[in-house]
Amino acid sequence: MRQVWMVLMVAAIGGCKSEGDPVAGKAIYDQTCETCHGASGDEGVETDGVAAADLNEVVPTYSDDQLTTQVLDGSGAMPSQPVNEKDIPDLIAYLRQQFPGSGSDTNP
Ligand code: HEC
Repeated sequence: MRQVWMVLMVAAIGGCKSEGDPVAGKAIYDQTCETCHGASGDEGVETDGVAAADLNEVVPTYSDDQLTTQVLDGSGAMPSQPVNEKDIPDLIAYLRQQFPGSGSDTNP
């Protein structure tokens, strides 16, 4: 019985991999990005005197490819991040959900 469940779970996880899971992505964000960018993306902790970019402003202007490169390779004062390449879709799903840009949500 247990083995049947394992097979079903693996099939389910494998089947929807390209979509990206924002819940899994949040766990990665909290572990990896939050120290510099803060939980709300705008904390701006400095690295070598350079403040981390406000993700509320930057994420909406970046394509998925640009975000992937930014995380895996780093740029400027931001070092490359230890995120597994296969987890990138989850991370991006979370970034898109958390930082949709001013166009799609109007804060009071
Ligand atoms: C060690 C601190 C640090 C961590 C950890 C970090 N960042 Fe950054 N991030 C920075 C800094 C500093 C900048 C500004 C770089 C610059 O302008 O030179 C930046 C900029 C960015 C930018 C805008 C691109 C740019 O060059 O300004 C994006 C997008 C970004 N970070 C996403 C992320 C994501 C997603 C994570 C987690 C996977 C993350 N960062 C983790 C420090 C960090």
